[in-house]
Amino acid sequence: MGAKGLAAAPGDARWLDVDLGARSYPIVIGPRLIGDPAYYRPYIRGRQVLVVSNDTVAPLYLDAVEAALAGFDCHRVILPDGEQYKDLGTLNRIFDTLLTARMGRDVTLLALGGGVVGDMAGFAAACYQRGVDFIQVPTTLLAQVDSSVGGKTGVNHPLGKNMIGAFHQPRAVIADTDTLNTLPDRELAAGLAEVVKYGLIRDAGFFDWLEVHRERLLARDAGALAEAIERSCRNKAEVVAADEREAGQRALLNLGHTFGHAIEAGMGYGAWLHGEAVAAGMVMAAELSARLGWLDIADVARTRRLLAGFGLPVDPPTDLSEARWLELMAVDKKVQAGRLRLVLLRGIGAAEVTADFDPAALRGLLEAVSGAAVTAG
Ligand code: NAD
Ligand code: GLY
Repeated sequence: MGAKGLAAAPGDARWLDVDLGARSYPIVIGPRLIGDPAYYRPYIRGRQVLVVSNDTVAPLYLDAVEAALAGFDCHRVILPDGEQYKDLGTLNRIFDTLLTARMGRDVTLLALGGGVVGDMAGFAAACYQRGVDFIQVPTTLLAQVDSSVGGKTGVNHPLGKNMIGAFHQPRAVIADTDTLNTLPDRELAAGLAEVVKYGLIRDAGFFDWLEVHRERLLARDAGALAEAIERSCRNKAEVVAADEREAGQRALLNLGHTFGHAIEAGMGYGAWLHGEAVAAGMVMAAELSARLGWLDIADVARTRRLLAGFGLPVDPPTDLSEARWLELMAVDKKVQAGRLRLVLLRGIGAAEVTADFDPAALRGLLEAVSGAAVTAG
């Protein structure tokens, strides 16, 4: 069932479709969704539901979700909180729970939490009995604007971020904006990094809007947040509908991620938040684009200013040597035939994925950041 299935649902939710033919699904965005059965029932095909959450989110929202699932045979698995637990060992706890409770092929997994829980529950759903349904109930801004949409699921490996995973689309994404009220400021900012990403890669008008509404977003103005989530999801849904398996333009969604993943792995998972690493990584991508003569230095400055204005780091850590950067970046899913491909900017709202850049410019940038802060902008 597509988003039209929610036409009769109560409340003032915004909804849009991820258009993937028979696997299309709705993204519902708004307040007071999480405890409302109407938003779940159309997307649960069997009787069994396993809610996957963590020990931070479960005490806040699990009761409301389980109340909304009254009548289903509902189980739960509560994972330890943290990016450092996004691994195969922790994933196995989901399988243990599924098998111990003898859950069948018609079970629905429900991911209640941020991107870590969503990626792990989604991957468990992709693998369990070769694939079962799952619903995303994202509770961080980052998960509401990015990770819950598009079907990328997986876990980290000590040698590389998100290196073990699968494409597996959810049946629905239910993004309750009220849950953002309990989110720490640092996590809100991390989500705003991915919001800025959409403006940078393909939506210059949205970038302008973010500059104008920066303070409303930081103040968690409900209308501004809902608008930013909807515009982000619309951008992501369009990209995913056009290129579900990342044969081409979906790679643009990785702006800043090659640098960012290197920061996350290099500093130890959990030390930098994913969104923080992406923010610094996007500035590095902008810097490199400027060094290549692709991007106006004024646009690098605008990028830095907006991200810094959201309280995000705009310089990478100085702890990584140039050699370590290169080693970490070589473990990137965009590497093809041994050649590193990067997402670079031709302007704000105009990104491109390419292996066709001067490696000396990259080395120059890495040399600059491994010894001192980036200077341009
Ligand atoms: P996260 O899942 O670690 O959540 C951040 C923190 O906020 C955690 O401590 C969490 O317990 C807590 N939290 C969650 N909701 C809360 C709430 N409402 N109130 C209070 N605390 C709350 O991190 P994240 O930023 O949501 O996601 C990052 C992860 O997402 C990374 O692993 C990244 O690789 C992944 N990701 C995946 C995709 C994708 O397409 N699948 C895209 C972007 C990021
Ligand atoms: N977050 C990148 C993607 O979904 O492709």
